[in-house]
Amino acid sequence: MLQFQVTCFDDWRQSARDLLKSEIAPTEIHWIDQRSCTDTPPLGLFESTPPPSPAPIPSNETVNVPVAFIQLAQQVSYHCYPGRWELLYRVLWRLTHGEKHLLKIASDSDVIELSKLEKAVRRDSHKMKAFVRFRRVVDELGDHYIAWHRPDHYVLKPTAEFFRRRFDVMRWTIMTPTESCHWDGKALHFSEGMPRSAAPNDDELETLWKTYYANIFNPARIKTKAMKAEMPMKHWPTLPETELIDQMLREAPRRVEQMIRMTDQIASAQAYIPDAIDRQPLDLDTLRQASLHCEGCQLCQDATQTVFGHGPHDASVVFVGEQPGDQEDREGIPFVGPAGQLLRQAIHDVGFDLDQFYVTNAVKHFKFARSGKRRLHKTPSAREIAACRPWLDAELKLLRPKFLVCLGATASRAVFGPNFRLTEQRGLIQKTDQSAWTMSTYHPSAILRATDDKADQMRQHFEHDLALFAEHYRDTIRQ
Ligand code: URA
Ligand code: SF4
Repeated sequence: MLQFQVTCFDDWRQSARDLLKSEIAPTEIHWIDQRSCTDTPPLGLFESTPPPSPAPIPSNETVNVPVAFIQLAQQVSYHCYPGRWELLYRVLWRLTHGEKHLLKIASDSDVIELSKLEKAVRRDSHKMKAFVRFRRVVDELGDHYIAWHRPDHYVLKPTAEFFRRRFDVMRWTIMTPTESCHWDGKALHFSEGMPRSAAPNDDELETLWKTYYANIFNPARIKTKAMKAEMPMKHWPTLPETELIDQMLREAPRRVEQMIRMTDQIASAQAYIPDAIDRQPLDLDTLRQASLHCEGCQLCQDATQTVFGHGPHDASVVFVGEQPGDQEDREGIPFVGPAGQLLRQAIHDVGFDLDQFYVTNAVKHFKFARSGKRRLHKTPSAREIAACRPWLDAELKLLRPKFLVCLGATASRAVFGPNFRLTEQRGLIQKTDQSAWTMSTYHPSAILRATDDKADQMRQHFEHDLALFAEHYRDTIRQ
């Protein structure tokens, strides 16, 4: 029996590739999961047996493995089940030994097991996104946000990218018992795990967060059963707010503006995004429905309703604006007010109808200041944009648009990142994670608000950019 120690997916992949080329059957291998046996001294690779001498292979021979399997295997590798490596190799073997379509056989016991493991990893990753709470500490470099979380599986690696995108402007660390991840504004670094005690416990932010939570907490809305289902008991000790539930139930809600501002930086819509696993497949209608209840930041308090994206669900073009305006807020549909009319006309002038496309906003609630009877537009803050980004991310992930047009700096920053400069990068076509063809232009509201001399030039640029879009779009339709 050959013994292999594996610590991560790349280890397994490398060994599996060699073993497969040498035609070593799954029953001849004992995989040792090095991750789940950290107490035992590491075994040298092939310690008990010399390495299998690779069978002579013609040099051009490659192992043909479906991409879907590689992706699935990588997900499964994050599960803590020690037998996963063996399972993965068995499935790989079967796929390459006459059962090419094995993954399509949903009743096969290996396939069932793989899918169970994959689901558990996805669910755990979702929970991490929803339940990680950062606390602020100040070190020699300034603010540092630290969280400690206990996942069921090794999901920090596959989930870290999510936090990087969401909190790219903060310096942060997420610790788990088995591994930690740090973001310094430039790169993600991974290091060993940390005990709970390493995470700051009682700092300023936590106190503020608790007070905030106590103040916004509405006892009439408490749904203990739903809370328990969504928030497994094991996470309760790391969630500062749970300590206060009894007290909150007794105390009347009382707002503290300053607290709200301070804690707003960790506000996020993420916890309101439906779990794709429970309601698979997640679709735009489900997403829209869930967004109506979002309280991810304080903008929901004064606005009339959530204004979710609108348009054909199979649209290949998406326009992203900033936030709904006064009229959109009342009607619940984006771009129905004056800015929408300007956009509609401009699209019409380049030969299309806005109704063919999907329109949405970077922020889903209207932010305004009252002036007499009027409600005047206020630009959303970076924190509000960050809080709302999960909705836009989820929309774009489902829509997978061929063309993405960002209107104005807010939408552009939500898509291209915080360093985007509209004046410099307007009209440039770029590839982004969200769409192969992404471009930014002025926001129609900005044109409407601009002074006459500026407005003319902005309008020209805007029309020029939309003409560019139309030309490319027309080319793809023709193909
Ligand atoms: N401005 C926007 O950005 N979006 C709307 O929906 C309306 C005006
Ligand atoms: Fe949620 Fe976005 Fe509305 Fe804030 S603006 S409450 S994050 S939908």
